[in-house]
Amino acid sequence: MCGIVAYIGDKEAKPILIKGLHRLEYRGYDSAGIALINGGLKIYKTKGKVSDLEAKIEGLKLDSTIGVAHTRWATHGEPNSINAHPHHSNSQKLAVIHNGIIENYDVLKKALIERGYQFYSETDTEVLVNLIEDIQKNEQVVLDEAVRIALNQVTGAYAIAVLSEENPNKLIVARKGSPMVIGIGDGEFYVASDATPIVEYTKSVVYLAEEDMAILERGKEIKLKTIKNKEKTPYIEALEMDLTALEKDGYDHFMLKEIFEQPRSIRDSMRGRLNADKGIVSLGGIADYEQKLVNAKRIIIIACGTSWHAGLVGEYLLEDLARIPVEVEYASEFRYRNPIITENDVVIAISQSGETADTLAAIALAKEKGATILGICNVVGSSIARSTDAGSYTHAGPEIGVASTKAFTAQVTLLTLMALRLAQIKGTIPASRWMQLLHELESIPSKIEKTLQSADVIKEIAWQFKDVSNFLYLGRGYNFPVALEGALKLKEISYIHAEGYPAAEMKHGPIALIDNNMPVVFIAPNVGIYDKVVSNIQEVKARNGKVIAIVTEGDEVVRSMVDFVIEIPVTEELFTPLLATIPLQKLAYHMAVMRGCNVDQPRNLAKSVTVE
Ligand code: G6P
Repeated sequence: MCGIVAYIGDKEAKPILIKGLHRLEYRGYDSAGIALINGGLKIYKTKGKVSDLEAKIEGLKLDSTIGVAHTRWATHGEPNSINAHPHHSNSQKLAVIHNGIIENYDVLKKALIERGYQFYSETDTEVLVNLIEDIQKNEQVVLDEAVRIALNQVTGAYAIAVLSEENPNKLIVARKGSPMVIGIGDGEFYVASDATPIVEYTKSVVYLAEEDMAILERGKEIKLKTIKNKEKTPYIEALEMDLTALEKDGYDHFMLKEIFEQPRSIRDSMRGRLNADKGIVSLGGIADYEQKLVNAKRIIIIACGTSWHAGLVGEYLLEDLARIPVEVEYASEFRYRNPIITENDVVIAISQSGETADTLAAIALAKEKGATILGICNVVGSSIARSTDAGSYTHAGPEIGVASTKAFTAQVTLLTLMALRLAQIKGTIPASRWMQLLHELESIPSKIEKTLQSADVIKEIAWQFKDVSNFLYLGRGYNFPVALEGALKLKEISYIHAEGYPAAEMKHGPIALIDNNMPVVFIAPNVGIYDKVVSNIQEVKARNGKVIAIVTEGDEVVRSMVDFVIEIPVTEELFTPLLATIPLQKLAYHMAVMRGCNVDQPRNLAKSVTVE
C-alpha cells in the first residue's frame, strides 16, 4: 500500500529513485511523484504509473544526490496529481512522502488552518508536512526534532521520509505500522518500503522497528532513536535476496513467472524440513512450540485474502491429520468481534507480505489475551514475522505479481508439513500411512511440473469464455478452498465476477444462475467424495451449464459429461489443492491477458495492504 523510496549520498538520486519505484510499484500504482533538491526543492508528480512520471520528467536536468519518491495507492482523496506524493509544506521548503494513514488528520488540519495554513490536497500527508513546519517555526528546533515532536502528535500508521531544502545533507525517516528498510552504503543511505530497491546497491540493512526514526546524514553514521527520544544502536542485518528474483526472466508477466516457479518454491519451502527416506518432518522455527500446539485447545488461523484460503486448506489438514480443532478467521473480522481467546489457544497468522494491517492488529489482540502466536510469512524480517512468538518462513522468494500464486502453494506446503509433524507426535495416523504421505509430498513439485504443461487446453478454455460476465467455481472438502482461490484469482486480474462455493451448497442459491451461458469450474479429482461431486456436475449439466472440470488424469467418467477437462496427476486427496490450484491460476492468467487487463497490476488492488 504505497511504496516509498529515498536516497542520500554521492550518486545521482533520480535514476535510483525511479528504478526503486518500479520495484515497489506492486504496492500501489495510481499516481507517483518525486522530490529532489536541485537549486531548491523540486517536486514532480502525476496521476498514473511510474512510467508516466518517468515520461513527465524525461529530459529535465535534475542533478541531485538526495531525493524521495512515492508510488501511491489512494486512501485520502482520489488518485490525481494533486493528491499524489510528495507533499510540500506551505513554505515549499519541506517535502514528505508517506505510507499509511494519519487517523487524527482532521483535528490537526483544523488547528493548522486556524494558524493560517492552506491546504491544496485532500491528503492526511499534507497535514503532517505542515505540522512539522509549524513545530519547526514555533519551537525553534532542528528538523529531526520537529519531525519527532510531530510524530508524537499523530495517531495512525506511517512510514515517512522528510526532505528539507534547508537541510540538503539530511534525510529524516520514521515508521509506525508501515514497513521501512534502510540500506547502508559507503557514506550513503537507501530507504524503501521493502528491500527490493536496495538489494543491488548494498546488502547491509537496518529494518526500522515500530516508532523508530533515523537521521541519515551524507557521509555520517546512521543515527537511530525512538520517537520518544531514546537513542538506539542500529542492528545491521545482511540482506539475503537474489537480484534475479526481481526480474521477469523472459516471461511476459511476473505472475506467469511466479506460476512457473512453483515447483522450485515448494521444493525450497520443504528443503531441510522434509526427508521422506529418513522419515523426518521438522520445522525448526516452531520446534519449541510443538508441545504447545499438541496440547492446544484449538488453533485459530488468522489471515486475509489468498492467505486466508491457504488457512482454510490448513484447517482441513490439521483437523484431518493431527486431530486438533481449527478455526479460520478473517483477520479484519476477528479483531473487531470480541473473540474468545484463551492462553491455551495457538494462533497461526499467515501472510505473504508480513505487513497486512488487519493481520497485525489481530495478532496484537490475541497476544493481549495471552495466546501463543506463530507466523507463516514469506517476507523475511517483516512486521508480522517480528511480532509473533515464533514461526516458519515460506521460501517462495519475492512475489511481485499482485495476485498471489506461489506464496499460496508455499503456505499450503508449510501447513501440510506442520500437520504431518503434529500427527507424528500425536500418533494420530499409522506410521506406515504417515511414511507414505511423506513420500507423496516429496513428489508434489515434479507433479506440478507436469501440471504446468497443460497450456493448450487452458488457452482454448480462456478463449472460449473470455467475454463472459460470470463464473462459478465449485469444489468439496480439500478443494472447496481451491474453488474460492480459483474464483478470487479470476476476479482479481480479469475483472470477471466469479464466486467460489462448496459444490453441494450450489443447490441453496447459485444454481439459480445456471443457464447455457454460465461457465462452472468443478474441481473434481477422483478422491474423497468424488461420486458426490459427479452428482453435482450432473445437476449443472441438467441445466445446460458449461462445465470445465479439473480431473485426475485418465478420468473418463467426468470427461464424458463435461465441456472441457484439465487433467492433474494422481495424488492423495490432501495434496490435491497443491495441484488443482495450478490450472486455475493459469486459467485466470490467460483470461486476463486475452481481455487486455494489466495482469501484474490489476486495477484498485495492491499487494501489501497496510491500511485496515
Ligand atoms: C492483498 C493482496 C492479496 C493477499 C492479501 C493478503 O489483498 O492483493 O494477494 O492475499 O492482500 O496479504 P498477505 O500479504 O497478508 O498475505
